Amino acid sequence: MGNKVIFFISLLLILLISFDGAIFENNPSESNYHDLALADDGLSLPRSTTFENYDGSEVTTLSYRAERAKQIRAVFAPAIPVLPIGKFLNGNLPVGTPDDVSGPFAPALLSQTGAFSDLASLTASDGVVPYEMIEPFWSDGASKSRWMAVPNDGTHDTADEQVVFSDTEAWDFPRGSVLIKHFELGGKRLETRFEVKGDDDVYYYLTYKWNAAQTDAELLVGSLDEDVDVDGTVQSWHYPSRAECVSCHFPQNGGVLGPKTRNLNKTITYPGGVSANQLANLSEMGIIAENITEANAGNYMAVAAKDDLSRSSRTGRGATST
Ligand code: HEC
Repeated sequence: MGNKVIFFISLLLILLISFDGAIFENNPSESNYHDLALADDGLSLPRSTTFENYDGSEVTTLSYRAERAKQIRAVFAPAIPVLPIGKFLNGNLPVGTPDDVSGPFAPALLSQTGAFSDLASLTASDGVVPYEMIEPFWSDGASKSRWMAVPNDGTHDTADEQVVFSDTEAWDFPRGSVLIKHFELGGKRLETRFEVKGDDDVYYYLTYKWNAAQTDAELLVGSLDEDVDVDGTVQSWHYPSRAECVSCHFPQNGGVLGPKTRNLNKTITYPGGVSANQLANLSEMGIIAENITEANAGNYMAVAAKDDLSRSSRTGRGATST
């Protein structure tokens, strides 16, 4: 019995020693154990590899992060300046928050907003960045997609092209920013909601209701209730009015409810198949003026998704609820 215990303890020690060596072999500068806790998303891959000549001098350093950044840029790098997207209402961003968004400046059709380059496949325009919430919330069984667009001249490198980052509070988007949330029920497109920061720094809200042919969506002026047929079962859907929008999205809670550090701190697969931590990607793009990398993202808050049992091992790093 005693021999067995000694055997297992020795085995454990040997494993620990060799594991430790293996982790830091390619990564001598890395000594942060937080990274190890994030191993599930492939984040434990070495960030750099140094090749040595026989005489011991270094010849090549491949930066994993830089490589990945290049890939991400290849996906997102806008070929054209994305300013027109940020000011997506055909450049007619109102000087103040409109009292009546049914006015002539708000496009009557979703296809006229410029937010999507292809409505049939719901492909967002260049510069419109998809994001996912760790915990997406329940909305009557609907599936949701989300995007954000921050005005810029090709790069996000000035204050009016960047989000004022907060670790704990709502992110403060610059004027002209657009947030989009799209709802589907049983594969049927219902509505695509917009949240736009006007030139007076106040958000205004619009929703576009999809037509029966599912080819385009029309600006809704008031609220609407509709029976939606989902595979033979009728489910009622409520399209909120603008007044309802601001009963949940109000200035005191920052207007923007989802995009917060703790809600976005996870790895997602972007169009084109590149996987990246969302905070690291937004930082890389310059949208958030905070130096977040795949390596240090684990030091930032992350909510625990309800269905993520593995999260118990991560709670030590400031996990919290929304
Ligand atoms: C019952 C409360 C409620 C109402 C009403 C509501 N929203 Fe939201 N909305 C939320 C919550 C909570 C989130 C964040 C979670 C998420 O993305 O699912 C959100 C997210 C959004 C987003 C993504 C950006 C963000 O703030 O997180 C947009 C865009 C949006 N809503 C637009 C609208 C519009 C337009 C209306 C009115 C037509 C509206 N919402 C009505 C609660 C509400």
